[in-house]
Amino acid sequence: MINREWHLLSRPVGWPKPEDFALVEAEVPTPGEGQVLVRNKYLSVDPYMRGRMSAAKSYVAPFELGKVMQGGAVGEVVESRAEGIAAGDHVLHFLGWREYAVVDAKNAVKVGPTAVPALKVESGDVPLSAYLGVLGMTGLTAYAGLLRTASFKEGDAVFVSGAAGAVGSQVGQIAKLKGASRVIGSAGSDEKVKLLVDEYGFDAAFNYKNGPVSEQLRAAAPDGIDVYFDNVGGDHLEAAIGSLNQGGRIAVCGMISVYNNTEPAPGPRNLARLIQTRGRIEGFLVGDHYDLQPQFVQEVAPWVASGALKYRETVVEGVENTLEAFLGVLRGDNIGKMVVKL
Ligand SMILES: NC(=O)c1ccc[n+]([C@@H]2O[C@H](COP(=O)([O-])OP(=O)(O)OC[C@H]3O[C@@H](n4cnc5c(N)ncnc54)[C@H](OP(=O)(O)O)[C@@H]3O)[C@@H](O)[C@H]2O)c1
Repeated sequence: MINREWHLLSRPVGWPKPEDFALVEAEVPTPGEGQVLVRNKYLSVDPYMRGRMSAAKSYVAPFELGKVMQGGAVGEVVESRAEGIAAGDHVLHFLGWREYAVVDAKNAVKVGPTAVPALKVESGDVPLSAYLGVLGMTGLTAYAGLLRTASFKEGDAVFVSGAAGAVGSQVGQIAKLKGASRVIGSAGSDEKVKLLVDEYGFDAAFNYKNGPVSEQLRAAAPDGIDVYFDNVGGDHLEAAIGSLNQGGRIAVCGMISVYNNTEPAPGPRNLARLIQTRGRIEGFLVGDHYDLQPQFVQEVAPWVASGALKYRETVVEGVENTLEAFLGVLRGDNIGKMVVKL
């Protein structure tokens, strides 16, 4: 059997180019003791993968040149040599960017209704792809960043950028469900802006490409904001500092506007406002908050099952289109979580 897998050939400078990557055919590997062979069904493509393509020192090691890349994936176990996991089980693991993976059982998490009882709520189970998004890494990022890092409390006015994406759409809805006084989102198209208000229940939203972010934010949040959940950086961050209320909190989740920069981007020019407002700005990594996972699933899964929390996915078909799907995330082609269906 042939396994198709994506290799990184050279480290992209600026926007990644197709020649930096190759789709390579290899033998399907055989599981050893304590391992399972998984046929991946959904692959995750995420903005942070851009960082792993460069050699810069970071919180996670760079992808190795000439080797298969990695990322979140869910699939079906086709052969098991591990106790507690059987052929036919579905597992979440970290060996994406390929069709088949041999995974150490300790790195495979069983998913599905029997593995996550909280999901057996009213409408039953959610699709497997949800474990990469709304009930997976991006969902936990939204939950932990809003509730823990930004110390969200009832009555806060919340601004979130990248609001039609996987993390951002969940931040805004969790804030609403937990009693935010006002939720404002920004996104890169009028279609996304409409979705935020009409489907996700945001109080206001704007297209950051239609005019200066600071002006659009002031108009959307005339009484200022208490929380900014930053997915974008750049002028969004400066605008949020400019609209921050007393005791405001900024959770820095991502800065996608600078990921392909070849020169360092200038910082916000108004940082001194943090003194007046006693504001706090703090970065966070979802990896430090997995202790919240059970609480997250217990609270969010019923919202998903009942439809109180809505989510979209952009699904690209075929392992051969994984790179294009990844580039699409950087371009903003996606609404909600971008996944690749195999
Ligand atoms: N700290 C952590 O542990 C952690 C974990 C997961 C994700 N993140 C970060 O969270 C952010 C969102 O991730 P996600 O997985 O949910 O991705 P996503 O929001 O689903 O997709 C990325 C979105 O970013 C927007 N974008 C691209 N370039 C932009 C620019 N120059 N200015 C403004 N928006 C731009 C695009 O939407 P538009 O059409 O709106 O431009 C695109 O759809 C990313 O910054 C990511 O790195 C951090």
